[in-house]
Amino acid sequence: MMPQAAETSRDAIVSVRDLQVGFQTTDGRAVVKAVDGVSFDVRRGETFGIIGESGSGKTTIGRALVFLLKPSDGAILHNGVDPLAMPRRQFQSHRRDYQIIFQDPNAALNPRMTILSSVLEPLELARAGSKAERLKRAHEAMDRVGLALDLGERYPHQLSGGQKQRVVIARALTLRPKLIVCDEVVAALDMSIRGDVLNLFAELQRDLGLTYVFITHDLAVVSHISERIAVMYLGRFVELGPTEKVSERPLHPYTKALLSAEPRPLPSTMRGDHRIVLQGEIPSPIDPPSGCRFRTRCQYAQGVCAEKTPDWRELMPDHWVACHFADRPNYSPT
Ligand SMILES: Nc1ncnc2c1ncn2[C@@H]1O[C@H](COP(=O)(O)OP(=O)(O)OP(=O)(O)O)[C@@H](O)[C@H]1O
Ligand code: SF4
Ligand SMILES: [Mg+2]
Repeated sequence: MMPQAAETSRDAIVSVRDLQVGFQTTDGRAVVKAVDGVSFDVRRGETFGIIGESGSGKTTIGRALVFLLKPSDGAILHNGVDPLAMPRRQFQSHRRDYQIIFQDPNAALNPRMTILSSVLEPLELARAGSKAERLKRAHEAMDRVGLALDLGERYPHQLSGGQKQRVVIARALTLRPKLIVCDEVVAALDMSIRGDVLNLFAELQRDLGLTYVFITHDLAVVSHISERIAVMYLGRFVELGPTEKVSERPLHPYTKALLSAEPRPLPSTMRGDHRIVLQGEIPSPIDPPSGCRFRTRCQYAQGVCAEKTPDWRELMPDHWVACHFADRPNYSPT
């Protein structure tokens, strides 16, 4: 069912309602339910983090948010409007406001184009302004991300990984987007420069009023930069709330396991007393477990967990969870 614009919160730049994205397997016999019923709002100006293991569906959500792929079902509204209902031309220009940046700058940059040509390219494709204006905007974007203008004459292989990712960020900025989906954007960078690039994202947000959806499997990254975190497991959200609530008082056993498995030093409040080791692999999204999808790896699973899908409920203000027993000590039935 298509939600009404009035149902979405007024400060939502993106509203996702019961999003489903499926992919046919190569033999065409089954559907991979990469995202299977996810609803959330991204608030204007915030950084919304999405965390989860490999294969949980994070990138698929990110690509759907900017309409790089089409939902199989459900709705994604931008500022309360469904972009898929726009005329084609309006849709093309609308999409420029919603950008995505991926992990690997080498895949995003053409090795045969100079840095300046790469930064200019989105402006040229959008036929934005005169040639002189495009050049001015490209230079502004390079300056914003801390790239010296003389790097414009170089080629990607002559730049460091961090510089290349700055070029990718500059390219996205030229079109003056409202929202950027950042998918593992520091994962391929040396530890030593990750902090610098994360700080750059924070600075750009402050100066340009950007909204980010920050996708990562690295808890340290997501908690450093996000106001709110969603925890994803096998195509669904299992928990969503303010970063400090989710990291200090996680409600879902999967979030607890992720926190306790975090190898980097974390504040004691974030580690918990007992280390919970996640057993086994994430099951296949082709045939997910019945009821609660986490039940095959959950140490608290009961009979009802196989029978009934846990409701998505707001257990505390702004803090959502999908677990039958999240409100009970030790996850036991009463
Ligand atoms: N184009 C595609 N065709 C078929 N299956 C796909 C496609 N894209 C993703 N999938 C499958 O959908 C599921 C979710 O993938 P996705 O890339 O969204 O996960 P992810 O959380 O981003 O993982 P990672 O942390 O490894 O990047 C996986 O099982 C993946 O194999
Ligand atoms: S619903 Fe059951 S299986 Fe799922 S997380 Fe809660 S206790 Fe574990
Ligand atoms: Mg991914």
